[in-house]
Amino acid sequence: MNAPSPRPYASAKPSRPLTGTISVPGDKSISHRALMFGALAVGQTRITGLLTGEDVLRTAAAMAALGAEISRDGDDWLVSGRGIGALTEPEDVLDMGNSGTAARLLAGILASHELYAVMTGDASLRKRPMARVIEPLKQTGAQFLARAGNRLPLTIRGARESMPLSYRLPVASAQVKSAVLLAGLNARGVTEVEEPEPTRDHSENMLRHFGARVEVERVGRGRGIKLWGQPELCAADVVVPGDPSSAAFPVAAALLVPGSQVTVRGVGLNPLRAGLFETLREMGASLPVQNARTQGGEPVGDLIAIHTTLKAVDVPPERAPSMIDEYPILAVLCAFAQGTSRLRGLSELRVKESDRLSATAALLSVNGARVEIEGDDLIIHGTGGLPGGGVVETHMDHRLAMSALVLGQASTQPVRIDDASFIDTSFPGFVPLMQSLGAGLSAQ
Ligand code: S3P
Repeated sequence: MNAPSPRPYASAKPSRPLTGTISVPGDKSISHRALMFGALAVGQTRITGLLTGEDVLRTAAAMAALGAEISRDGDDWLVSGRGIGALTEPEDVLDMGNSGTAARLLAGILASHELYAVMTGDASLRKRPMARVIEPLKQTGAQFLARAGNRLPLTIRGARESMPLSYRLPVASAQVKSAVLLAGLNARGVTEVEEPEPTRDHSENMLRHFGARVEVERVGRGRGIKLWGQPELCAADVVVPGDPSSAAFPVAAALLVPGSQVTVRGVGLNPLRAGLFETLREMGASLPVQNARTQGGEPVGDLIAIHTTLKAVDVPPERAPSMIDEYPILAVLCAFAQGTSRLRGLSELRVKESDRLSATAALLSVNGARVEIEGDDLIIHGTGGLPGGGVVETHMDHRLAMSALVLGQASTQPVRIDDASFIDTSFPGFVPLMQSLGAGLSAQ
């Protein structure tokens, strides 16, 4: 047997000021959806700015395995859709890699197609809970068989005639909401979903963009969404904005490293994704937006991050859905701020690509920060600087990897991560892009 190849590692050392203007890769959430809706629409959808990270490539491969024609035209992607209900049975297992979004949204599509499919994923995805989509989707008439604990691999036998659901989400999850809506596309009648807190609304926006009837109303603190089933989805071009969750890393590095000023062009600023930027402004960050505009139905702008001495912050639990992927990098920023920060209501972080609550705490403490987990809250005692010097375990989690590499740019001692390979799931080219700003990063 061959010895396993060594995992590529990366390290960050204290950086000189970061300066320059960059763009970050396309939004991951919007990229998955553009491929999926394009595959369900009639006609050819052109996608500009699609993220070509591993996660999204898995979605592209799955939609092709289900019968959509997917090709590239220069930097654009073209998807010739099959129409709702017309996807065909895949010949083999669908491997969704590291991507929870791909797996959960696809479960909604498969549940409402009368076909047999098996989905799997990598060691991280195979640990993640799928009951949250299986439970509602079973009520459409689809059948599911999963491993113990409702984990992947998962077998799906889609419903012959999908029933429209009326479902209240037990957790504020855009993935679950989207899975229910995607199943509702091929159900006769109106599908209704209620979410306890507003979550990212890219599915709703894109459904409308492709011609479906969707109505949204406020219900208490959350929202109720209605989708009229079996619409004629028509191919529609999609321009994908820069991913705010990726922009978070160069923005954070610029805020932390003295003398820095970095502009990130064309960042998606959908208010349901912008919780981190709101929080950073509360911490005193200088983060102006220029050229605010609408692109492909989503608000975008150029974000300018200027080094600032940050103060501690108390983030309420209801803000979590609008920044759910940004807590690891926010925690790094809090460790460099003055004072004690409290990030509240983070139970969902335990079921991300890794247990991000404990892994984020470990990332900080191995680099000299004082951190506590109290219930679902993360408490960080910031002292204005960090010694660094740690080797961070990244647990197959791209956002932990990038957060650690930002930390190392601002700490006294270099920081190393055990595995850099997962960065490509969401941010291909992260290391050279940060190097182009002057960051002291190296990867092997
Ligand atoms: C996503 C929703 C969020 C987020 C994930 C992308 C989406 O997950 O963490 O990275 O595109 O719908 P949850 O729905 O589990 O909160």
